[in-house]
Amino acid sequence: MVIKDLELHNFRNYSSLNLEFSQSINVIYGKNGYGKTNLLEAMFLCCVGKSFKAQKDAELIKYGEDSYKVKTRIGDSICNSISVFYEKNKSKYIEIDGVYIDKLRMLFGNLIGIMFSPESMRMVTDGPMYRRRLLDIALCQIKKDYYYSLMMYNRFCEEKGKLLEQGRIGDNLELEVINENIAKFGAVIAVDRNDFVRQLNEIAGKYYSFITDEEEMVTMRYYPNIHSMNAAIGEKTAEGEPAEFTVEKVKNDFLEELSDERLMKRERDFKKNLIGIQRDDIGMDLCGNSLRSFGSQGQKRSYAISITMAELEILRQKSGRTPVLFLDDVLSELDNARKSKIVELTKNIQTFYTCTDMEMMRLPAGGGASVNFIDVEKLR
Ligand SMILES: Nc1ncnc2c1ncn2[C@@H]1O[C@H](COP(=O)(O)OP(=O)(O)O)[C@@H](O)[C@H]1O
Ligand SMILES: [Mg+2]
Repeated sequence: MVIKDLELHNFRNYSSLNLEFSQSINVIYGKNGYGKTNLLEAMFLCCVGKSFKAQKDAELIKYGEDSYKVKTRIGDSICNSISVFYEKNKSKYIEIDGVYIDKLRMLFGNLIGIMFSPESMRMVTDGPMYRRRLLDIALCQIKKDYYYSLMMYNRFCEEKGKLLEQGRIGDNLELEVINENIAKFGAVIAVDRNDFVRQLNEIAGKYYSFITDEEEMVTMRYYPNIHSMNAAIGEKTAEGEPAEFTVEKVKNDFLEELSDERLMKRERDFKKNLIGIQRDDIGMDLCGNSLRSFGSQGQKRSYAISITMAELEILRQKSGRTPVLFLDDVLSELDNARKSKIVELTKNIQTFYTCTDMEMMRLPAGGGASVNFIDVEKLR
């Protein structure tokens, strides 16, 4: 997939902008606060319909204006253009090839994008929420039923939460139906997450060795909050293979845990949902120690980038097309050897780099890749 151009109206600091891109490496450079990340944000918005950093669409509207519009023309995809329009206090309006889509999930897969920004380091350094988000953004883009399952799961959890909060748990039939649905949709998500983390682990490990030339291995493992599944992941089959899971089996196990009398009592006491995929995590280890606690800054950064590249490879395999890669401020913290390796890895991928100084890209780009330099100051 490639983004051919980008058109903006009243988006962040841009009143009006038309910009064409190279199908290989694009480097957006300029001083801090000039609007580099805003450009990536606009393009990523066309991939998943949401900003990767703002919670509300209103934040994306240029100060003092009432609406924004973002449009991209794309190539090597199932469609030719995507546009997102938002007017204050109205719902978002997304079009694919000029046709309005009423469900966000219809957008996924048309333009698959992978974002690495300074925020992405949080998947290695911060709480589980950031790791679940990594999985969700990737899986929504390649699996049609993932986003749907996630929405339905959240809806039923919310309903259950309300019942618990109001102490209206007397009617067990209602709770049974809700738990049944929580188990059903939660199982789809847990099985997909497990498969995805397994692949990520394998591929990210290879990228990590390539980028760092280190002997040490970093590994990751999925920790589902469904206890029986979690226990089974830790064990290998008689043939030494990792455990396989079917949605049916996970659903039954999950439902059994949800229906446990002691859990139900605790949920009534605490007035909230206590188990489920909203508490999943991924563990990352460096030679058997937690990467988060024991890894150096450089190791964490290299692993986070390795995960990003692994994600891209999996999404490419699953979709049959190469996703677009956004690397926001990645190069600034790396030495020249690692920089060159990253550029080497992105050679055949449409990549959008941002940096404060174009010199940062000159040296690694000297390796033969043709680079389109965009001076963000000239766009303002
Ligand atoms: N809604 C908005 N309207 C106008 N300007 C905005 C809006 N949101 C952010 N900005 C401006 O965008 C700039 C930050 O852009 P950003 O893309 O993060 O810069 P950088 O080049 O450092 O990546 C800041 O100057 C900020 O004031
Ligand atoms: Mg920035």
